[in-house]
Amino acid sequence: MRVITNFSMLLLITCFLCLILSSAQTSFDGIVSARSLDDQLQDCAFKAFSTPKTGVPYDAQVPSNLTGIKVSAMRLRSGSLWDKGVQSYKEFEIPEGVIEQPYFKRIVLVYQNLGNWSQYYYPLSGYSYLAPVLGLLAYDGTNLIASNLPELELSAYHKPILVNFSYVKNTSPYGSLAKCVYFDLFGSIKFDTLLNGNVCPIFEQGHVSIVVESNASPQTHWKNEFKFKIVIVCLAGGIVLLFLFGLLISRMRRAKQETKIKQMELEADCSETLKIIYIGNAKVPSALGTRTPPKIENDYVP
Ligand SMILES: *[C@@H]1O[C@H](CO)[C@@H](O)[C@H](O)[C@H]1NC(C)=O
Ligand SMILES: *[C@@H]1O[C@H](CO)[C@@H](O)[C@H](O)[C@H]1NC(C)=O
Ligand SMILES: *[C@@H]1O[C@H](CO)[C@@H](O)[C@H](O)[C@H]1NC(C)=O
Repeated sequence: MRVITNFSMLLLITCFLCLILSSAQTSFDGIVSARSLDDQLQDCAFKAFSTPKTGVPYDAQVPSNLTGIKVSAMRLRSGSLWDKGVQSYKEFEIPEGVIEQPYFKRIVLVYQNLGNWSQYYYPLSGYSYLAPVLGLLAYDGTNLIASNLPELELSAYHKPILVNFSYVKNTSPYGSLAKCVYFDLFGSIKFDTLLNGNVCPIFEQGHVSIVVESNASPQTHWKNEFKFKIVIVCLAGGIVLLFLFGLLISRMRRAKQETKIKQMELEADCSETLKIIYIGNAKVPSALGTRTPPKIENDYVP
C-alpha cells in the first residue's frame, strides 16, 4: 500500500512539474539574427564618437537598411557608474551599485531602440508589443574604433535599473494584463510585472519591452493543447491508480474476512458453546429451545 501511495505522489509531482515547464517559455528562435544586429549596432554606436565627453549620450547613424532603429552611445568610467549611476540615459535610469564584468576602467553603454523592427528581431508569438524593444549593452571603452566587441556583463547590486517607457500603446484591444518582457543575450525570455507608470525593472544588460498576450495565436493554442494532454494523462493515471487502490483494499478486506471466518470456525470447534447436562450417568450437550418451533399447517386450504 505504501508503494502505491508513494507512486501516486510521484506521478502527481511529475505532472505538476510538466505543467510548470509547459507554462514557462525558455527561449526564442531569432537569437542569431538579434545577436548579429547587436554587433552591427555596436559598430554604428562607436562611430558616433569623435572626442567623446564622459556621461554624454551621442546619437548614432544607422545604415539605410535599418532605418527606424535608434542607437546611442555613452562613455563612462566604471567607478562613476558604480558610485553614481546615470540618472537618465534615454529611457534607462541607472542607480548606483551597477558594475560590469570583466572590469574595464572605461566602458561604453550602447542604447538601442528597435522601433518598428522590434517584432522582426524579437518575434514573440502569442504576444503583441505595446512598446518598442529597448536594449542596454555594455562594451569595453578602451578602444573606440574596435568592432565585434563582446558584451560585458552588467549587474545591478542594490537597486534595479529602471526602464521608463515613454510611449506605450493602449492595451484595451486585448483586455489582458501588460507585462514586461526581458531577453537576455543567450536567447532566454523572462516575463515580469509592469510597475506603475510603465516602468520595467531589470538587473542585467539585455533587451526589454512591454507586451500583452494576444489571444488567437498558434503558440498559446499549442501550449493549451499540450497542457490539456498532460491533464488527460494525469486524470487517466489517477483513475487507474484509484482503481488499483480500490482493488487492493477490497482484496485485503476479503482476506481479512476469510481469516475472521476461519478463526470463528476454529473457535466454534474448540470452545464449548453448548451447555452440558447429566442424564443419568451420561454427560450430554443440551441446547435451549430457541430454534423456530414447527408450524402446524392446519389452516392450509388447497
Ligand atoms: C545592411 O547592409 C549592410 C551592408 O551595407 C549589411 O552588412 C547588413 O547585413 C545589412 N543588414 C541587414 C539587417 O540587412
Ligand atoms: C520601419 O520603418 C522604416 C521607415 O520608417 C522602413 O524603411 C522599414 O522597412 C520599416 N521596418 C520594418 C521591419 O517594417
Ligand atoms: C518616467 O518618466 C516620466 C517623464 O518622462 C517621469 O515623470 C516619471 O516620474 C518617470 N517614472 C519613474 C518611475 O522614474
